[in-house]
Amino acid sequence: MKIKNICCIGAGYVGGPTMAVIAQKNPDIKVTVVDINAARIAAWNDEDLSKLPIYEPGLDQVVAGARNRNLFFSTDVDAAIEAADMIFISVNTPTKTYGQGKGMAADLKYIELCARQIARVAKTDKIVVEKSTLPVRTAQAIKSILHNTGNGVQFQILSNPEFLAEGTAVQDLMAPDRVLIGGEQTKEGFEAIQALVDIYATWVPLENILTTNLWSSELSKLTANAFLAQRVSSINALSELCEVTGADVNEVAIAIGKDSRIGPKFLKASVGFGGSCFQKDILNLVYIAKSYGLNEVADYWEQVIIMNDYQKRRFASKIIQTLYNTISGKKIAFLGWAFKKDTNDTRESAAIYVADQLMEEQAHIVVYDPKVTAQQMQADLNYLNTRSEADNEQNLTTVLNPYDACKDSHAVAVLTEWDEFKTYDWQKIYDEMKKPAFVFDGRGILDQSALETIGFHFYAIGK
Ligand code: NAD
Ligand code: UDX
Repeated sequence: MKIKNICCIGAGYVGGPTMAVIAQKNPDIKVTVVDINAARIAAWNDEDLSKLPIYEPGLDQVVAGARNRNLFFSTDVDAAIEAADMIFISVNTPTKTYGQGKGMAADLKYIELCARQIARVAKTDKIVVEKSTLPVRTAQAIKSILHNTGNGVQFQILSNPEFLAEGTAVQDLMAPDRVLIGGEQTKEGFEAIQALVDIYATWVPLENILTTNLWSSELSKLTANAFLAQRVSSINALSELCEVTGADVNEVAIAIGKDSRIGPKFLKASVGFGGSCFQKDILNLVYIAKSYGLNEVADYWEQVIIMNDYQKRRFASKIIQTLYNTISGKKIAFLGWAFKKDTNDTRESAAIYVADQLMEEQAHIVVYDPKVTAQQMQADLNYLNTRSEADNEQNLTTVLNPYDACKDSHAVAVLTEWDEFKTYDWQKIYDEMKKPAFVFDGRGILDQSALETIGFHFYAIGK
């Protein structure tokens, strides 16, 4: 079976970059990315590539090469479904905010809407690919919706979770550690798996394309994120112990990372992990375990989130305590708002929670982030519902220049590890700050001894 026409529902952080790379590598396949968000589609179609809705290094070039050749962005979801022989579902699966499983389970309403729309529109056989991250056994529900249309159309469902990380999406898609494809273990299932393997095999070595049954594939995605987040919480837990014992968390990380069984990656102590995936996927895992009555399993994984929340609070508390237990009316500069460098994404960013806690103490926060807009910062704070929108606007301002953020501030806090922060004229920043001048490095990126020589009082996590 040779795929000629792909539709991807959801033009977000995953759908956009993933389809752009598939289109680039498969010029003979027509790829149409659709979304109900017209503004987002318009941005994907913008001639000015700096206006793409997602900032990812290298993405503009990939889009420029394939767009309007075999890569299209559209709001006509029905037409794209009808024309496609393979449909990726790449819509959001946020944590449920209502009803049963509120605050824990994944909200599958967008997935179900897609399945129902496919069932309604499809007139020819289709392979439906779960690209979104889903609870194990979701394919069962999708199958039951698709198989009850009564119009004779045949569907095969595959699970093909996405492992890209934001900020390195293009690089990760170009050279993935592995591509995972789960499908039914039947003749038709194997044919569908092979059709998707063929698409990836145009650029991914075959030994890096793993095929499994549906449930292993679905569960592997949640498991991978749980393991990754667990490493961050583990090193963050140790960071506090380092602070009270005189050990240095960076030295500990290097020492343990040299053990090939542990490995050096993902051991950077921080103000806490953010992003749209880790927390949501672990909460989902916890919920699934609980729903099977596996309470010890659920408690084990929940601890990763508890530790992460604690780390964010601990960082904010450190700022308050150090500034003589009173920050009311003080100006605190934030360098960074995004949840990590090289992205404009702020979902679950630690900066939001640290700012909220400091604003409860009546601090005035002034933020500089190279990619995040003032509107986004306000939306992030308003979403927490801690205070009125007017109060948020008054107590947190956004500036376009880092030196303006730091000028006259009592303290500078680094919330995101943007490379440019290391290159600033820290003497100038010091000269323009209130004294004593404090720096709280939540990402461990600044040169502590150089800054202390200038005169800063310096706090780094885990030292
Ligand atoms: P996103 O919110 O950026 O994009 C989802 C898009 O789907 C939105 O633009 C939304 O308008 C659209 N959409 C929702 N319902 C629709 C419908 N019925 N028809 C058409 N469009 C619809 O989300 P994302 O970050 O791209 O994540 C998508 C999925 O991929 C999630 O399940 C997520 O867990 C998973 N994932 C995300 C990442 C990541 O780094 N962001 C990495 C791996 C996996
Ligand atoms: C993650 C997974 O890495 C990716 O495979 C999956 O597809 C989606 O979720 P993402 O959230 O985009 O990707 O970024 P990631 O690099 O994993 O960072 C997540 C958070 O952990 C960030 O806030 C980052 O700053 C933090 N982090 C990461 C640390 O604090 N320390 C580390 O050592 C690594």
